[in-house]
Order: sequence, then C-alpha cells, then structure tokens
Amino acid sequence: MLTVRYFNGNSFTRIKLSLGGSRFIELPDNIIAIPAFVDLHVHLRDWGEDYKEDLNTGSRAALAGGVTAVGDMPNTKPPIRSPELALKRLKAAEGLKITYRLHGGVPTDLNLMSGYVSIGVRSVKVYPEDYGLLDGVVKAAAANNMTVVIHCEDPSMFRSVKGIDSRMHRVNRPIDAEFSCALRAVQLALIHGARVHLTHVTDPRVVDLARLSGRVTVDVTMHHLLLDDESCVELVNDPFYCKVNPPLRDRSTRLELLKRFINGSVDMVASDHAPHSISEKFGRDYENTASGFPGLETTGLLLLDLWRRGLIDLTRVIEAYSINPGRMLSVGGESYLLVDVKSSTVIEPNLFMSKAKHSPFANWVTMVRLVGLVKGGELLMVDSDYENMLGGLISEGTVIKRSKAASPLT
Ligand code: NCD
Ligand code: ZN
Ligand code: ZN
Repeated sequence: MLTVRYFNGNSFTRIKLSLGGSRFIELPDNIIAIPAFVDLHVHLRDWGEDYKEDLNTGSRAALAGGVTAVGDMPNTKPPIRSPELALKRLKAAEGLKITYRLHGGVPTDLNLMSGYVSIGVRSVKVYPEDYGLLDGVVKAAAANNMTVVIHCEDPSMFRSVKGIDSRMHRVNRPIDAEFSCALRAVQLALIHGARVHLTHVTDPRVVDLARLSGRVTVDVTMHHLLLDDESCVELVNDPFYCKVNPPLRDRSTRLELLKRFINGSVDMVASDHAPHSISEKFGRDYENTASGFPGLETTGLLLLDLWRRGLIDLTRVIEAYSINPGRMLSVGGESYLLVDVKSSTVIEPNLFMSKAKHSPFANWVTMVRLVGLVKGGELLMVDSDYENMLGGLISEGTVIKRSKAASPLT
C-alpha cells in the first residue's frame, strides 16, 4: 500500500494505491503522483531493424520515461500496410507491460481500411510518400470512423542541395512544404468530415490553422520546441547528427512555436522516438545520416522541466502528454507516475534503456526526477535511488532505472 499526493490535472488529493506487497509506505510531500504519460508517436522498430530498437527495449525505454501507453508507427521493415501485417505486429506486442496501439500504414488497396478497424487499429498514418493518396485516405478514414495521422510535408516542394552541416536540411525541406500540406489536410478534413491529426508540427502558422479549423489537432516534439538548427549543431559534436524530419527550424520560428505551446494552442506533445544506431547518426555525410532522435526517455523530463521553470503549469503537462493523447488512442485508466519535484536529473544517454544511446539533450539538467511508475496495481519502474524507499513494492519484473541526480535543489 502506497499513499501519495496526487494531481489529476485540476487539483491535489491524497490517494492510496494498493500494490500488493506487505509494506505500508507513505511518500513525502516532495514526491507527487500524476497520470502516467501517453506517447502517440513512437517507432519501436523490431523485425528487420531490431539492431536500432525492438519491442522489448522500446517498451522499457517508455517505462523509464514515465510512459505507459504508446502509438507505434508503421514504417517498420517491412512496412505495415495491410491488416494481416498489422495483426502480426499486435500479436508480437502482446505481453508487453505497456499499453500498445498501432497506427496502420496506408494500404495498397484503400478498401482494406475496414480490415484495420476489425482488428482494433483505429488510425492510419500518412507519410510524404503517400501524399498523392491523401484525398482518398481521408475519405476512407471518415467512412470507417478512423483518425488520419499525417506527417505533413508536400514532397513536391523538397530540394536536394548538399550542405556542410544539418542546417541545410530546412532549406531542402522548407517550412512552406509543411504549410502547403496542412492547408490541404485541413481542407480535406472539412470536406470529408474526418478526424485529422498533424504530427510533429514545426510551423506556428499550422498550429493557428488547425485551431481555426476547429477539427484538426496537432502535436509538437520537445526537439522542435527546444532546439533550432543553429543551437543543435552547436551542442552536438557531429555536423549532421541534428538531421530530423521535419527539420529543426530557425530560432524565431521555434520561439513562435514555443509561444503557442505555452498559450495552450497545441493539443499534444509526442516524442517521435526515432531510434537509430550510433554509426547511423555519427560520422556520415549529409545524405547518409539517419533522420531522427530517440525521445522516450527525455520527453517527459523536459516537459516537466518547463513546468518547474515556470513556463507552463502542471495541468498543461498532463493534458498534452497524457489526457489528450490518451483520448486519441482510447487509453483510459489508472496509471500513475511518481515524480520527485525537489530533485533533478542529468540526461545521460549511456543510461538509456533504448538501444539508441545518444541524444541532442545529453547532459541537460531537468529539475525533476522520475521516481517510479504504477500501472494495473503493479510497480513497473523505479529509479535506483528510490529502491530503498519503495523496496517492499518492487517485484521481479520491475524495471530498475539508473539516473544521475544533479546537485540537490533547495
Ligand atoms: C522517423 C524515423 O526514423 O522513423 N524519422 C524522423 O526523422 N522523424 C520517421 C518520421 O517520423 O518521419
Ligand atoms: Zn514523421
Ligand atoms: Zn516518427
């Protein structure tokens, strides 16, 4: 039995969690419980890319980051573009400790979309390579009551200029390619009456447009909120490491996006956890550097840190990375993240559960500590420094996470 102060998104109450175990533990006031995080956009890879990540390491990375439910993306090897392969994936994910949802890829035959619904896949993911099919997909999704999740960039506006570092990426995939796609997506959502969600949005104009539409929702990543093309290149000791899709934008664009996140115009946060091996991210030329960063073990920390530094309130954190994505993925229920608000964490990629042990946020200090994670009456994750405090509740399958505290906060 555990008693702890709980913030449900509106107010604090003291709650009791029965977790088996014999001990009765009352947590001190510096440790609070909040609803566990839900990450609607992750790549758990596996299959032909299990050297980057697999379902097991990816779900352990989720738990380490305070995430108990994920929406996994279909750009696997081979890509998931049929209900048959989607079913194979869902079977492979059975038995994971996290709640697993899958976004289906655009099928070769749009009539197959109803097959997704019958196996519980309620969303379809559109990539730039599917751009020509957007109208048909949105229409079919509306007919099947599915959500369309779009990586929104119009590929006809891409260029291929070689550059001396990753700053060239936003020239090659210009922000207007995102805006142009978003205009089309909003138009189609309104015409067909479909639910459309634009993921990893970087253009502040797209946030405004989605809001005006009253129909389209958006998420942003922490890397697009906190890093721009210049600052990332300065942080990382490789000219092309910062390559990610959509690209990091310039500083003023990033600050406008952050402003919209702070004022509540952005519906959700997602990690876009995109694990790649060290050798795919470092020491290569522009074309051959893989795009994307791992994010499951940093997103929640960085988001809570924005709260601790006074930029957003705790309600915003919970809406953006738990309640709203939870609604989208139909994840309900009782999962709790325990957070020490008087401690801090140094982001150390070497300690990640993910196979991708690198991050643009390496060595950043966040003003919180993720202490433990409770789901379904079980303690699924605990930080090694709190093992003594939570000892009586740790069972065999509990993931023990190591993380380095910065100097104590007062
Ligand atoms: C993602 C990946 O590696 O799968 N890469 C990325 O740069 N974001 C794909 C994607 O989300 O577009
Ligand atoms: Zn994408
Ligand atoms: Zn992605």
